[in-house]
Amino acid sequence: MDLLVGRERRPLDDAEVEAALDAAAVVVVDVGTGDGRGAYRLAQQHPDWLVIGIDPAAERMADTARKAQRKPSRGGCPNVWFCVASAEAPPPILSGRAHRVDVVLPWSSLLRGVVRGDRGVLTGLCGLLRTDGELTAVVGTDIWRPPVPTDIVGLDQPRPGDPDGTLAAAYRAAGLELTGVSPAGADELARSTWARRLAAPGERFVLITARRAAPAAGAVG
Ligand SMILES: C[S@@+](CC[C@H](N)C(=O)[O-])C[C@H]1O[C@@H](n2cnc3c(N)ncnc32)[C@H](O)[C@@H]1O
Repeated sequence: MDLLVGRERRPLDDAEVEAALDAAAVVVVDVGTGDGRGAYRLAQQHPDWLVIGIDPAAERMADTARKAQRKPSRGGCPNVWFCVASAEAPPPILSGRAHRVDVVLPWSSLLRGVVRGDRGVLTGLCGLLRTDGELTAVVGTDIWRPPVPTDIVGLDQPRPGDPDGTLAAAYRAAGLELTGVSPAGADELARSTWARRLAAPGERFVLITARRAAPAAGAVG
């Protein structure tokens, strides 16, 4: 897996990655990390955690990825890593290692993945989690107000409780047990740069939570 440092990608030894994953009290993968500031803040709050921000858009993460690798006296934060990757194809070395996968205010394929339960995205997210690891996804619902972005035309808006069970079925098919669809509180949004940009009065957000189900007895792989 390559570590992003500014605009540069530095290959990490598998042994180094495994050692950091083993040593961390909690491993969090922040998928669609954007500018990475949320992941950075979370890592600062929990120095014994390893927080890994992934996003296909390298440029957006560059400043935080550079800052994180400085000396701690200059804002460095060694327990946050950034990596250029997508939800659909995360670094294989992280497979089954995350206690938590966070998705905060996703857009495009990541949004469609968590809201419609697209198999490629959900399978990728599920694959990052340990058994019983938790997926949390916060989605802004005001984007469903007209004019609806072309990205989400035809997508059902997530509704608290998942009344018709469609989302639960899609999550189950990807190995995830849907544990809740509820209004999101300030805590879930506090570390999101994007939430601050959106912050209009009355803006509403939904929190989707799911858990990686244990493989069925006798299942292979
Ligand atoms: C609105 S930004 C949110 C950034 C950050 N989570 C925040 O709250 O400030 C959405 C991010 O999702 C990323 N994204 C979109 N599709 C993705 C995918 N398939 N896999 C991973 N990230 C994706 C985008 O590149 C973008 O950085």
